[in-house]
Amino acid sequence: MISECQMHIASFGQTPEGQVIQIFTLEIPGVIKASIMTLGATLTELHVPDRFGKMEDVVLGFDSLEGYLQDAYQQEYCYLGATIGRVAGRTNGNRFEIEGRLYQLPENQGDVHLHGGVSGWDRKLWVGKPFQSENEIGVDFSLFSPNGEEGYPGNIHVSVRYAVNLEGELKISYEATTDHATIINPTNHSYFNLSGDHSETIFDHELTIPAEHYLPIDGSCFPLEELKNVSGSPFDFRKSRKIGVALAENHPQLKNGNGIDHAFKLNTSNPEIILYHPKSGRRMTCITTAPAVQVYTSNHFKGTYPGKSNSYYKQHAAICLETQGFPNAANRPDFPTIRLNPNETFESQTIFKFTIQ
Ligand code: BGC
Repeated sequence: MISECQMHIASFGQTPEGQVIQIFTLEIPGVIKASIMTLGATLTELHVPDRFGKMEDVVLGFDSLEGYLQDAYQQEYCYLGATIGRVAGRTNGNRFEIEGRLYQLPENQGDVHLHGGVSGWDRKLWVGKPFQSENEIGVDFSLFSPNGEEGYPGNIHVSVRYAVNLEGELKISYEATTDHATIINPTNHSYFNLSGDHSETIFDHELTIPAEHYLPIDGSCFPLEELKNVSGSPFDFRKSRKIGVALAENHPQLKNGNGIDHAFKLNTSNPEIILYHPKSGRRMTCITTAPAVQVYTSNHFKGTYPGKSNSYYKQHAAICLETQGFPNAANRPDFPTIRLNPNETFESQTIFKFTIQ
């Protein structure tokens, strides 16, 4: 039973249309503190201890709602901490077919339909409902996504549960149903920097990914056909490696992504990804039911506007571990399906567990 836990619900401000955005803070003192707002079911803060017990925020974001609503940020489609849907990543040709019908998806980042489109789930107002169980406290966010939204078929009811527990875990669980065959591939787009200093890069972070294969991309970051073995490439994180060392390698795939912006095929018997920051001692273990992880090393940050505590986010200021189905899975019968049929329930769960090493 969690006796020390605390839950705060507050207003985070209003949109120009007058919608009130709520923010839920889940706290287990000295262990973990997470804040999530109803706009985009977005993780805005995540505080965890370093080896001296100092609690610091390990995700990028803004101190106020205005930061998230500013034009410069909205136009970049950066998705700091947001829930991504309906479909994470890129779908080649911005199109897919279901039951003989072709669906063309609207472009939002240049000529790409990215992360659910112009107004994806990251921009929707979710309804948040707090809960408490014997072992955890959390919030259930729910959303109705109507048929045709951003070009996708099917009326979808989706929920995202954020929960924290005494083990220092943040658990994110997705559930969705539809009334028409469709595709769904949600994820969370948190940018982690375990140093707690958001003006730093993540070059000194060490990364372990139990993946033998990654999916190469073209110059526009669209996934190519063939999975490649990580062996002898900057994408070999089977043994822990410093991210800065991998990024410094001279490899055409790093040029295409401007850094790492690639999906890794997870080893299903050991889907544990580890991010470690030696200086603070913070260690994050990411455990997922998803078949892949899109690793993105904040390659396009330009530091043009201030983030939290007036820090300017520069290139490689953080890393995203977007656990999900493969990008472009809608057009790839050889990948685990992202199709959702009526009378089925989509389910997926990712745990971010924080410990000290
Ligand atoms: C994508 C990147 C994109 C970034 C921010 C990542 O998930 O793979 O290509 O720039 O999100 O939108």
